[in-house]
Amino acid sequence: MYSSTQLAFKYLKYRLTASNGKGHGVHSPFVFEFITKVLNDKSSFDCFQAIESLRRELKNNNSRISVPDFGAGSRMQLQHKRKISAIANSSLKPKKYSQLIFRIVHYYNPHTILELGTSLGITTSYLACANPQAILITMEGAPEVAAIAATNFKTLNLSNIKIVEGNFDTTLPSVIHQLSSIDFAFIDGNHRKEPTLNYFYRLINVSKPSTILVFDDIHWSMEMEQAWVEIKQHPSVTLTIDLFFIGLVFFRTEQKIKQDFIIRY
Ligand SMILES: C[S@@+](CC[C@H](N)C(=O)[O-])C[C@H]1O[C@@H](n2cnc3c(N)ncnc32)[C@H](O)[C@@H]1O
Repeated sequence: MYSSTQLAFKYLKYRLTASNGKGHGVHSPFVFEFITKVLNDKSSFDCFQAIESLRRELKNNNSRISVPDFGAGSRMQLQHKRKISAIANSSLKPKKYSQLIFRIVHYYNPHTILELGTSLGITTSYLACANPQAILITMEGAPEVAAIAATNFKTLNLSNIKIVEGNFDTTLPSVIHQLSSIDFAFIDGNHRKEPTLNYFYRLINVSKPSTILVFDDIHWSMEMEQAWVEIKQHPSVTLTIDLFFIGLVFFRTEQKIKQDFIIRY
């Protein structure tokens, strides 16, 4: 993991060099449409307020729960107690990105959605709300964390979510086996090179030309940056969009020449 100074420097460089989608730099109608209709859409949708109010409650919840450590090799190791507020403050995608993920799902309308890393279920709730007709499977290895997410889904009246509990190493192969294809996946757990690439290679087996994969924290560490480079280079990946804190991967066959964009967000 990079130090906060290294990360700040990288972020500054991104801000200074990324395209803003206007003028030069984006020679792709698909990406231009993504920027104007999804990335920069400022609309507020019905469920935003309820989800953000739940996030605020979680940030003020000082109860402690047991959280397994998915350390090296992502094997369950030590259990330690953490405040729910600490998890809500450090693990959840911030509003800006959760709402962008909502808009991606709302705009492209994927039918089968997978999330690796439920945590307290905040981004999951955005996914569920963005397309209530979708089949949404979210995966979490920490049982007490998953239990809180399940309660949160009830509070928000979201019924289209299936939580799969367990280590991704064992649960992902069987989840993928049950699905003939995946339209959208948000990979937000176990941010290391080998596991990330392992999830990517499993997911491409069930990806279609219209599938969108979103990888979290692609610049968080040298390992994650290496994983991102390998993902971008994969022959079936035709388009990537780097938004610094997340990276979007597309397999569009209409895209004849591979393109990688870095867009300011
Ligand atoms: C960053 S949080 C997910 C945040 C959530 N997507 C959001 O934005 O609201 C990552 C979650 O993945 C879980 N996790 C990490 N490695 C895992 C593994 N190998 N198997 C199962 N769960 C894992 C952690 O317990 C943690 O709750």
